Amino acid sequence: MSETVDRLVIRRPDDWHVHLRDGAMLAAVADYTARQFARAIVMPNLKPPVTTAAAGAAYRARIQAAVDPALNFTPLITCYLTDGINPDELVRGHGEGIFTAAKLYPAHATTNSALGVTAIDHIRPALAAMERIGMPLLIHGEVTDAHVDIFDREAVFIERTLAGLVQDYPGLKIVFEHITTAEAAEFVAASGPNIAATITPHHLAINRNAMFEGGIRPHLYCLPVVKRERHRLALRAAATSGSAKFFLGTDSAPHAVTDKESACGCAGMFNAPFAIESYAKTFAEEGALDRLEGFASEHGPRFYGLPLNDSHIAIERRAVAVPERLPAADTAIVPFHAGETLEWHYAGIVV
Ligand code: DOR
Ligand code: ZN
Repeated sequence: MSETVDRLVIRRPDDWHVHLRDGAMLAAVADYTARQFARAIVMPNLKPPVTTAAAGAAYRARIQAAVDPALNFTPLITCYLTDGINPDELVRGHGEGIFTAAKLYPAHATTNSALGVTAIDHIRPALAAMERIGMPLLIHGEVTDAHVDIFDREAVFIERTLAGLVQDYPGLKIVFEHITTAEAAEFVAASGPNIAATITPHHLAINRNAMFEGGIRPHLYCLPVVKRERHRLALRAAATSGSAKFFLGTDSAPHAVTDKESACGCAGMFNAPFAIESYAKTFAEEGALDRLEGFASEHGPRFYGLPLNDSHIAIERRAVAVPERLPAADTAIVPFHAGETLEWHYAGIVV
């Protein structure tokens, strides 16, 4: 596709990693995801986390109630793995179509992960069951060892944990979520077809300098934290390579502006309102708009064994100004790209 193209029609995309929250925040943010994406893998790190099929079904119903039905959006629910997870509950939840996948948070790795897994040995029966039934394992891949530099925690996780998991459960489908390093991209590319990764808009767009440009920028803080430029370039190469192992997962993670602009600001970027615009910017800059559809709309469903979406969306080259803040519940959220003008605009579903 030539760089003079100014309208792109692609199959409607899915978001394979998003935080929709609950209650008033869910009501405020859900339609941003639903207006662009047909489906989304919804993270279970609520308070309390989603650890049973009944809690998963109830959460799915709350999401469906929060979303405008005209947007035709399907939430895909995940189970939060704890040390005490019951493999039968996972198998039953998956069999009943409630749990699409299960999420591994190493305990204390990120927001609401205190009840996460303290040692892989605790969840081996669950992993064996998931391997057997073809249920994907979604991994927040960072060690929590305070002695490991925060910028190295993903690469060290590959050595200490992920490589062993891949060996021990060769048939397990694993998504290495929101990868941030060249090491992660290389590991996934070199692994078998059952190992894939999601990549966020922000890790493709900024490096760690952006967090400190002219002062500390809490709205650019997320976990895993953004890394050096060479890692950003490796992620851009992976996302635009055409490899079916890499697909779209925004990790959109809304927090009230007061929780970000604080002495101990929360991790997470709210990129849902301009998600496809942000990815389109990266793919256009890389001269790879012809590969956006694979990354956004095809590789994910194929990995998960789900049908491709039938509908299509249009993305047009037309300036779009990103607001400084968006109202949400009784507060506001600062979106990713706040105050910027983006060149590619989401023009909606085409018939
Ligand atoms: O930045 C992040 N925010 N990373 C995560 O892993 C969790 C997320 C959240 O829930 O806020
Ligand atoms: Zn996340």
